[in-house]
Amino acid sequence: MASSLLNASRNLVRNALRSPTSSVPAVRAAAISTSLSRDSASAHFKSPFVGQSKGADIPDFGKYKSSVPSDRNALYGYFMVGTMAAMSAAGAKSTVHEFLVNMAASADVLAMAKVEVDLATVPEGKNVIIKWRGKPIFVRHRTADEIAEANKVNVSKLRHSEADSDRAKKPEWLVMIGVCTHLGCVPIGEAGDYGGWFCPCHGSHYDISGRIRKGPAPLNLEIPEYDFPEEGKLVIG
Ligand code: FES
Repeated sequence: MASSLLNASRNLVRNALRSPTSSVPAVRAAAISTSLSRDSASAHFKSPFVGQSKGADIPDFGKYKSSVPSDRNALYGYFMVGTMAAMSAAGAKSTVHEFLVNMAASADVLAMAKVEVDLATVPEGKNVIIKWRGKPIFVRHRTADEIAEANKVNVSKLRHSEADSDRAKKPEWLVMIGVCTHLGCVPIGEAGDYGGWFCPCHGSHYDISGRIRKGPAPLNLEIPEYDFPEEGKLVIG
């Protein structure tokens, strides 16, 4: 039974293919037509060139263009850039100012930055020691003989060649940091082989100009920043 049905259907298909007027091609054409209509239903893109003879021309996008004039757009851009730059500069200035205020020396430290000395209190031929920024400062009121002795030294023979005139702004006033240049001891005044200062730690001798003359110290006693703003007044620092 099944085989007879199969043979009948085969014969029907063969006859349909042989005869173009039969009803089977109509069914196949209908199937193709259905497939085409489904494709056209999904293709919804509408070309801007449809119906135009000049298909290779650049399409007109004028309807997408901003209606605001272009110079007004540029002005808005400049305004925004300028505002952001001004705000950034103000922020940077504030940050740097805060940093500098925090890092600045406090009032008590600034008060110690300079020390004022009344020179009338230092008699000729005497030393005074003043504390400045945690260091001892030697101030010597030199006599005329001491000045002459400091100047008669052959500077070229010194370990650290310095003329007395380069170490004292006023010959009668010698101002030095009282720290031995060997290992930092405080030398003793009016002592040593050269009538100046002597460091007992390892035996360095300094002359009346504070120059190293004997012992292990490599350099003369250091001269700090100082000035004489008015007669009889010394300001160190
Ligand atoms: S520290 Fe002055 S001689 Fe050594």
